[in-house]
Amino acid sequence: MESRRKGDREPGSGDRSPSHPQTKTNGSAGVVTVPEVAASKGQRRLVMVTATDEPSGRLVDRAGVDLVLVGDSLAMAALGRPDTLSVTMNEMVHHTRAVAAGVHRALLVADMPFGSYQAAVAEAVRNACRLVAEGGARAVKLEGAREAEVAAITRAGIPVVAHLGLTPQSFHRMGGYRVQAREVDDAIALVAQAEALATAGAFLLVLEAIPEPVAALVTRRLPIPTIGIGAGGACDGQVLVWSDLLGLSQGPLPRFVRRYAELGRIAEDAVAAFATDVRAGRYPAATECYPAPPGLAEALAQKFGRE
Ligand code: KIV
Repeated sequence: MESRRKGDREPGSGDRSPSHPQTKTNGSAGVVTVPEVAASKGQRRLVMVTATDEPSGRLVDRAGVDLVLVGDSLAMAALGRPDTLSVTMNEMVHHTRAVAAGVHRALLVADMPFGSYQAAVAEAVRNACRLVAEGGARAVKLEGAREAEVAAITRAGIPVVAHLGLTPQSFHRMGGYRVQAREVDDAIALVAQAEALATAGAFLLVLEAIPEPVAALVTRRLPIPTIGIGAGGACDGQVLVWSDLLGLSQGPLPRFVRRYAELGRIAEDAVAAFATDVRAGRYPAATECYPAPPGLAEALAQKFGRE
């Protein structure tokens, strides 16, 4: 059978390039599956990184992460919006599809955007189906204590990642991006919500911006893995946003962000060097031009004259 061209992969298909570099973190050359992620609890730490398009998806996948998240944080990371609230389903499908073109091994998870699951359970299921069928996601993530939605989407055959703690889609109710579960009652409530979400069928739980002991307690009590972001080191795994990790984001950063590179500065310097070369006539060099076939310059000179 003729091999597919790169980018021909159908959304959601299991088509994975056998020549793709092997994972560096989980020791397995194969595609990361939901049962594998679920079974990793207590065995190894999970790594999740966000992506917003094909290049970021490809690079993150090649780096060997377990999960790639098309987070609604792309509103800020890629679309220049002030928060996540305005991202639409169509935009999430569009970006998920782009990321899916680059991700061949890691488990691709897409965020359900604000307004796509809050109004009705049936609508939540329909929108989760879109992220899988049109976007190519293999699982979806939604924020908050939404057991009914988690159960219904799971029943529809779509694996669900839950998300508790600081849930940015509720930042108006929270009064800003604040650390959550600092009071005893709130921490107890969060533990109960986490257990209910696991019972409802979530296979993974993201814990964002909560005190380390609360995340440790949830991680101990839950049968499913937890992924922390600003939740300390006791979680079963960690997630960072691509642009934060690589130094592409700007502005005040949360304390949990660790920059592993300063690609923003490298990109800016590279573009400035290009501009300098163009202005100085140093770009393009002869080797960067297409040579004329024999006789072309002569024929043009005869028709138009020499300079
Ligand atoms: O949207 C996002 O990037 C997220 C992560 C911070 C977990 O939800």
